[in-house]
Amino acid sequence: MPSTTLTALILFSLSIATSIEASQLQWPLGPSNTIWDGRMPSWIDLEDFDSPTLSPYNETHVHGYRNWSDYLRLPTNVKRSLFDYEHGTVPLEVTGDDTSLFLSGGENLQYGFRRSELNPVSNNGTDDHFGRVAISSVTKIFDSSTAVALTPTETDRCFCLVDGKRTIHFSVRADDRRPLNFTHEYQNVFLETNAYNAYQFTLKTGTPYDNSTSINSSGVTATQTLRIESGTNAGALEKTLFETEYSGGTWHNFAVELDFDANTLAAYHSKDYANLELVVPATANNNSGGGLYHFGIIKLPASGTGNGSVPFSGYQPSNIEEGQIYGGIFIEDTSGQPLKTGVWTSGYVF
Ligand SMILES: *[C@@H]1O[C@H](CO)[C@@H](O)[C@H](O)[C@H]1NC(C)=O
Ligand SMILES: *[C@@H]1O[C@H](CO)[C@@H](O)[C@H](O)[C@H]1NC(C)=O
Ligand SMILES: *[C@@H]1O[C@H](CO)[C@@H](O)[C@H](O)[C@H]1NC(C)=O
Ligand SMILES: *[C@@H]1O[C@H](CO)[C@@H](O)[C@H](O)[C@H]1NC(C)=O
Ligand SMILES: *[C@@H]1O[C@H](CO)[C@@H](O)[C@H](O)[C@H]1NC(C)=O
Ligand SMILES: *[C@@H]1O[C@H](CO)[C@@H](O)[C@H](O)[C@H]1NC(C)=O
Ligand SMILES: *[C@@H]1O[C@H](CO)[C@@H](O)[C@H](O)[C@H]1NC(C)=O
Ligand SMILES: *[C@@H]1O[C@H](CO)[C@@H](O)[C@H](O)[C@H]1NC(C)=O
Repeated sequence: MPSTTLTALILFSLSIATSIEASQLQWPLGPSNTIWDGRMPSWIDLEDFDSPTLSPYNETHVHGYRNWSDYLRLPTNVKRSLFDYEHGTVPLEVTGDDTSLFLSGGENLQYGFRRSELNPVSNNGTDDHFGRVAISSVTKIFDSSTAVALTPTETDRCFCLVDGKRTIHFSVRADDRRPLNFTHEYQNVFLETNAYNAYQFTLKTGTPYDNSTSINSSGVTATQTLRIESGTNAGALEKTLFETEYSGGTWHNFAVELDFDANTLAAYHSKDYANLELVVPATANNNSGGGLYHFGIIKLPASGTGNGSVPFSGYQPSNIEEGQIYGGIFIEDTSGQPLKTGVWTSGYVF
């Protein structure tokens, strides 16, 4: 890296550090409960996503045969999301194209899906424990070996992602230049059990997949909404708990709070820079099964096509170039404190 760039980065980091200090003083809820942070520092390079240590996300999963860096973008024409401002972190776009075929278990190519999903690197589905991973403003290191030192009161704290009460934050935004095809169903954010047989919750968009409806014959109207769906453990039928129009040019901020002891789910939502508001009061939801978090895109085949095996058959149009922009991805331990609903005060300047 040329030294002028480095100097610029250091100066930029310093200015970020200053603004973090300022915003911390204004947090209404006291110290951060963040136990895993997937927000993108402004100095991240796309190639860093191909490395096992330079990105907070797993570099090999879940995407097509090309490298992660070929399926990701760092949009520069989009304002930072609500929970990115406080860290000076930036938006990240997940894209899918005709090569987005995932080789499941190293042998079964999932022709029915188009998949690009980010998984937290230390959350591999069978081991839910991991060290605290935090963004450092000066080094490109995310792995737990350089984890923020735990204070004495924190050493007993569980940093696992599927225990106690956990709140999963994420903001999503449409990319007009790489629109999704709302005739299809997309699953965008979900927690999947270790057994890979159920989801504890899902953020979806597009027209719900229905094996009994052919889009060619019925002229199904495309559904352009974002939906929080309940879990499917033990064969439970998925229910739409919250639905909002997926308007363009807007950040949609979500927080899903899972109580792994009480087996409940609550959800919060806001647009752009408004504080999160409760949209799903704590409701019974089977959160068992541990699991792996996913942030990105699974595009299902067109309804009514294929042989009933959704991952491996069904119609997918060719020559696609689709994307969804993400921001403010982090997970809080809200066992003892309420979740963070906003960062703004009237005096905040950005
Ligand atoms: C990425 O995920 C795969 C599949 O779970 C796993 O085998 C691999 O070890 C993970 N990589 C890292 C760096 O954790
Ligand atoms: C992935 O990136 C590596 C390093 O740049 C490169 O050697 C390799 O060819 C890339 N793989 C694909 C499938 O593009
Ligand atoms: C997940 O991590 C644990 C602990 O490091 C390891 O024992 C296990 O094999 C990993 N699982 C996968 C699927 O990589
Ligand atoms: C929750 O799901 C688990 C795993 O599928 C199942 O064993 C358990 O019986 C379910 N609990 C309830 C109350 O349905
Ligand atoms: C959207 O998907 C439907 C069903 O696969 C397909 O018929 C249509 O051509 C797609 N539209 C675009 C713009 O790709
Ligand atoms: C719709 O019909 C066209 C033309 O027969 C076909 O190529 C396409 O696969 C069909 N799409 C679906 C979703 O059935
Ligand atoms: C629907 O699913 C069943 C299997 O569950 C399969 O036999 C059938 O062919 C599917 N129909 C369509 C139109 O995909
Ligand atoms: C559906 O077709 C796929 C791809 O040919 C095949 O792998 C799968 O076994 C089939 N599934 C069923 C239920 O026929």
